[in-house]
Amino acid sequence: MEKFDKQAIDEKVRGAMPFEHRWHNRFHLEMPFGLINDPNGLAYYNGEYHIFYQWNPLGCVHKNKCWAHVRTRDFVTYSMPELALWPTDVHDKDGCYSGCGLVENGQLRVLYTCNSKDEQGVRTAAQRFGTWMENGSVRKDAIIVPGNPEGFTAHFRDPNIFYHHGVRYFVLGAQRENETGTVLVYREEADGWKLLGELKTEYSDFGYMWECPGLLKFGSHDVLLFCPQGLEAQEYQYQNVYQSGYIAGHVSLDSMEMIHGKFQELDRGFDFYAPQVFQHEGRQILLGWMGMPDRDDDYPSAEKGWVFSLTMPRVLTLRQGHIFSRPAKEMQELRIQESAVDIEAQETDCVRADLAGGAEVLLHVTLGKAQTVDLTLGYGMEKTVLHYDRKQQVMTIDRTGMNLGGKGKRRFKLYADQTLSIQLFIDRTAIEAFFQNGEEAASFFVFPEKNILPELVVTSDAAMEEISGRVWELAAFRFR
Ligand code: FRU
Repeated sequence: MEKFDKQAIDEKVRGAMPFEHRWHNRFHLEMPFGLINDPNGLAYYNGEYHIFYQWNPLGCVHKNKCWAHVRTRDFVTYSMPELALWPTDVHDKDGCYSGCGLVENGQLRVLYTCNSKDEQGVRTAAQRFGTWMENGSVRKDAIIVPGNPEGFTAHFRDPNIFYHHGVRYFVLGAQRENETGTVLVYREEADGWKLLGELKTEYSDFGYMWECPGLLKFGSHDVLLFCPQGLEAQEYQYQNVYQSGYIAGHVSLDSMEMIHGKFQELDRGFDFYAPQVFQHEGRQILLGWMGMPDRDDDYPSAEKGWVFSLTMPRVLTLRQGHIFSRPAKEMQELRIQESAVDIEAQETDCVRADLAGGAEVLLHVTLGKAQTVDLTLGYGMEKTVLHYDRKQQVMTIDRTGMNLGGKGKRRFKLYADQTLSIQLFIDRTAIEAFFQNGEEAASFFVFPEKNILPELVVTSDAAMEEISGRVWELAAFRFR
């Protein structure tokens, strides 16, 4: 049998759905087997959103990188995941790495990185177009950039198209020969794609590699997304192995410079990386990988045969140089209306709610005398705590109370004066939290050891003036 037999793999996926294991998520895209990572090829085509993502169908290790594919009209009902693109030739034999989607002449196309290594282990990265075919697979088209230019290493990947005055460009993650990360820009010209050079920023020495760049427009502002690797953790930022964030400002493609504010993270959780954003009908829609490289012991589902998820779709807005992210409004369709329970209490220091196997919680706390507030997600004797310290204006996510999987804490600055607003999406193991109406977001997994549904307990050091909100049970994504 061929290593990647689309028909056999697709059948195996179909046969394994719906998921059975209690750690499998219900409203986060994931696979019944293998390892997934970066969302790829995001595009709106023929009335549907197309979502591709990195997938190793053959095991829970970072190898055999293929692209999986689903489509959806509403982010609630999806096509069965299928294998769409896989290593076949000398160019991509060591992985069909990340890339973007675009619509061209009525076709859905992709641009991805072909990764290959020779006998000595020397890497070549080439950038190649592909065309998604109705039979569910991507036809491989021309290679437009065969290798890395002088001055840069073969860590040269993740092309992402953008348009400027009707001309096509792409940004690409790269590493300089001095082992610092950067972004390169290519432009389409009559005789092919030309390297314009590096997009100069103030971050000339900011990690050893920048992965998964994206150049977005928010009105008259430009935003460069990228994932720098190799930043040192600080008290309230860069606490992950690798970071995902952005700089906002203005880009000049003539001088190849960006004037910008400081690098900010897109997500403060433990398990978020390599997000991709695409635009549709004025919305900037983000999907991220819920996972992190090089921290394999944090994800015990790998022992059950699958690992990682994608985030729910998020809509981004830029305000005062800061990106706010909110779950796409389509996620409201998951709310099971009959299950809604209101939370409403005054002058209290404790509120509890039982949660279903998939739940959304909206909470507004008027702090009153409270200086600290703890949101505890309890699973029997295990717990994960979101702790807010009003005096320090710091939110801490604390997983040390869990028995399995990743532990530790994540801390970040969060400004709440009188009110603290939190929206939580609590799936079986994937949790997404949005703070202060999307000012900050955090994605993380918890793997409860016992088969116990979570209870949410909100406590404070002194009475909260008012706590109000609502809890829903959420329906699962459907696959057809
Ligand atoms: C980010 C990344 C990309 C690469 C892909 C390979 O997670 O390392 O840079 O294209 O994963 O799976």
